[in-house]
Amino acid sequence: MAAINLAGISLQPPNFFSADGTRRNRIKFLRKKRSISASVVSCSPESSATDPEKPEIELEFVGPKPESHGKYSVERAKAVSGEKLLRNIMLDNKIELYAAYGKVMNCGGGGSCGTCIVEILDGKDLLNERTNTELRYIKKKPESWRLACQTIVGNKENSGKVVVQRLPQWKK
Ligand code: FES
Repeated sequence: MAAINLAGISLQPPNFFSADGTRRNRIKFLRKKRSISASVVSCSPESSATDPEKPEIELEFVGPKPESHGKYSVERAKAVSGEKLLRNIMLDNKIELYAAYGKVMNCGGGGSCGTCIVEILDGKDLLNERTNTELRYIKKKPESWRLACQTIVGNKENSGKVVVQRLPQWKK
């Protein structure tokens, strides 16, 4: 299986090449810095299903681009500290994690495809340290980049808020 290096991120999806061996797709990672001026809020009904006895992490997921009125959408969720991976929290709450390519080609959380990258805008201290898998894939990328499938939200004792940029522009 051929490994493909895109902007320094190695992707090893099983069907990345078409039958005739030509490259079928190419992901561009274009990083844009921007400030978030305002938000539209939508809450998932599953987002409040946490144990009141345990510390919680609040999460905000900022949309990839401004809505028609110029504001970024924000989806919210809550998770018991230290119990779930960021990927699972997003999937459980139906918050979009993958861009078009990743929807089809993701590795299912195995840490081998690099399609679950998110950017942590705030609250990185509430997450685990980058894992060895992340160091392999995104070592030279900004510290704010994480693989959602390797990121544990909370440490069972802490609480607070984490703000996540989903579907960053450089991921499309
Ligand atoms: S889902 Fe493949 S690396 Fe995270």
